[in-house]
Amino acid sequence: MNITILGIESSCDDTSAAILKDGRVLSNIIANQEVHKSYGGVVPELASRAHQQNIIPVVDEAIKKSGIKKEDINAVAFTKGPGLMGALLVGVSFAKGFAMSLDIPLIEVNHLQAHILAHFIKSEDKSQEFPDFPFLCLLVSGGHTQLVKVNNYLDMEVIGQTIDDAAGEAFDKCAKVMGLPYPGGPLIDKYAKEGDPLSYNFAKPKIPELDYSFSGLKTSFLYFLRDQIKLNADFIEQNKYDLCASLQSVIIDVLMEKLVKASKSLNIRQIALAGGVSANSGLRERVIHEGDKRNWDVYIPPLSYSTDNAAMIAITGYYKFMQKDFSDFLVTPLARMPV
Ligand code: KG4
Ligand code: ZN
Repeated sequence: MNITILGIESSCDDTSAAILKDGRVLSNIIANQEVHKSYGGVVPELASRAHQQNIIPVVDEAIKKSGIKKEDINAVAFTKGPGLMGALLVGVSFAKGFAMSLDIPLIEVNHLQAHILAHFIKSEDKSQEFPDFPFLCLLVSGGHTQLVKVNNYLDMEVIGQTIDDAAGEAFDKCAKVMGLPYPGGPLIDKYAKEGDPLSYNFAKPKIPELDYSFSGLKTSFLYFLRDQIKLNADFIEQNKYDLCASLQSVIIDVLMEKLVKASKSLNIRQIALAGGVSANSGLRERVIHEGDKRNWDVYIPPLSYSTDNAAMIAITGYYKFMQKDFSDFLVTPLARMPV
């Protein structure tokens, strides 16, 4: 049987819809919300309103681009959480109405699991390799930083996580301090390529076990810049490349240190990256480099499936569909939700 899933993602500031047939992407449409740029972060109320405006055109385009008819869709998968409540509500309500009108199953998806399962989206590349279970995944996004032991498609254990800010937040908040627009992560990545990572030395947090912390780094970056600006008002502009390179390098050091530790303690050499920050070119290079050194099999999602997208929601829906793991139409979104 061919299984065609419509995936819907609306947890934060991207409205996305995708059609997957047997795990292959027929379409994956993403509408980014430019409205947040000047606010230095996502404004929840503006996000909900933009999702309301975008959801119908985005789903319409996904169906048209896929070349299928809506009657060919076997189930609707949507993001139940975690995320912004008002933003999630738009996707959940739309998914319910759509599934009800076609009399097809509704499938709730955990956004964090979906980032990880993006690794199982099938590409046209015949030599494509998938991670073997169990594998270890460093899940780094704007809202989460976790080390996850993935036992099976829908069986995951968090073995370490941030006790305060996520890695993506560290990128975005430090970028904001530098006067860069939201989201700052991609810009820091871009500027870091031109700079020297050894220019400045920012202290690394000392957190036990496999947990992370990024709030101290953000504060020390802020105080360092304040002190420098007192001496030279143009300090940031004159040194932005070196500042970005040094900051990015310390964030990557912190992420990698625990990833290496987790791999050793669990004796797992199947290593994956997931989440928006896995788009970072420095992190990608470092994990490949460590992988060569330590004999890891490294899996990095394509850039289009690193940041938020509905293809990852649809692939998770596909595995749940196989298990007939369907949702009740009374399902409601959850702002907080563990992997
Ligand atoms: O997974 P995602 O799209 O949304 C959440 O679920 O949070 O991740 C967004 C985060 C933002 O913090 C953004 O700055 C960061 O991913 N990000 C990057 C890069 N691209 C996106 N951070 C560093 N380097 C990048 N190239
Ligand atoms: Zn995400």
